[in-house]
Amino acid sequence: MHNPVLDDMAEYAFDRLRALLRDVTPPAGLDPIIMSLGEPNHEPPDIISRTVAGHGDKWGRYPPTAGAAAHLEACAGWLERRYGLPGGLVDPARHVCAAMGSRESLYMAGDVCIPQTKNGGRPVVAIPNPFYQAYYGAAKLNGAEVAVLSGSPAGGYLPDFSELSGEQLRRTAMVYLCTPSNPQGTAAGLDYLSRAVELAREHDFVLAVDECYAEIYLGEPTPGILQACAAAGGGLENVLTFNSLSKRSSSPGLRSGFVAGDEGIISRLKRLRAYGGATIPAPLAEAATALWNDDAHVEANRALYREKFDRADEILAGVLGYYRPDGGFFLWLEAGDGEEAARRLWAEAAVRVVPGAYVGLADRSGVNPGDGRIRVALVDDPATVAEGLTRIRNTLAS
Ligand SMILES: Cc1ncc(COP(=O)(O)O)c(C=O)c1O
Repeated sequence: MHNPVLDDMAEYAFDRLRALLRDVTPPAGLDPIIMSLGEPNHEPPDIISRTVAGHGDKWGRYPPTAGAAAHLEACAGWLERRYGLPGGLVDPARHVCAAMGSRESLYMAGDVCIPQTKNGGRPVVAIPNPFYQAYYGAAKLNGAEVAVLSGSPAGGYLPDFSELSGEQLRRTAMVYLCTPSNPQGTAAGLDYLSRAVELAREHDFVLAVDECYAEIYLGEPTPGILQACAAAGGGLENVLTFNSLSKRSSSPGLRSGFVAGDEGIISRLKRLRAYGGATIPAPLAEAATALWNDDAHVEANRALYREKFDRADEILAGVLGYYRPDGGFFLWLEAGDGEEAARRLWAEAAVRVVPGAYVGLADRSGVNPGDGRIRVALVDDPATVAEGLTRIRNTLAS
């Protein structure tokens, strides 16, 4: 017995990449550089090991599923500092739920927010295109019609809501956004976010905003969805923000993040997680709490990313459609046939990248916006990244 929807779903992007490169051998004399996986490789802050060592007594306890009070307060405190939110907008007890990173809760939000029907029809879930795979999984496995919104170059490829017909909008149960976006690195402006909040409330859908790259900005701090809620003057109705320490604190192995937003949805998410959610162990939750309370390590982390984009500015100037993004740590390069480029880069330069088409789908015009692109993650130390980018330029742009 099995779920036919799951069987029908496209293979996960990294499985497809493994299959694509299975018979390709990188040159013997070159150290491989992995630029496919968005796994931050900066030294994790020593706050983690120090804090965990100080809370060894807690390994023997079941941690609270939704997060301990101090943990939730740290998350809410960070939101207030990061976005200059008015005190009281985010009540840690009512509006925040701790989670294992952000992937799990991005997926579980679909279980909570997608009904069997919306306004008498099949629910629609709109997602950016390309997209992080959890949005797609949440929509498909909850029986929704998936609308992939590719946006336009002028809008930095953020979803353009006019791509949804009026009839689809009536059936829309959820819209996922990502800002700064993976892979294009576009930061949504406050006007865009405010319009999204307005639409969500007008059409009563859940606006699920993935802000896991919120601390990796290259210029001014990027706006957040809760700022749009504050600007609208009300509460957090219809809105969720997803955050993570994986990128902010270079600690993807810690598996710690949180969701904040609409009180009713957060309460249902907590109920769902009480049945089937994994819980971050208490000593690790203590470390997460300390990380959310500290900004100095984040500043150092961001400086490393800026240094890498400075190198990218030099190495890739004028080639492969390179541009410096607003945030995040990806390059979304023009590379002709993306699969062919990925195979060549592995075969000739020992550099592993993702063909753009693997993280997108054909949209309503039949075009996969990832065709002709590769996604490159700048996650290693600056010298390794510069070496990887030089190999990419020499292989694809000479
Ligand atoms: C856009 C986006 N959202 C969410 C995640 C999930 O990360 P985590 O579960 O480690 O917070 C990732 C990871 O690469 C991502 O790129």
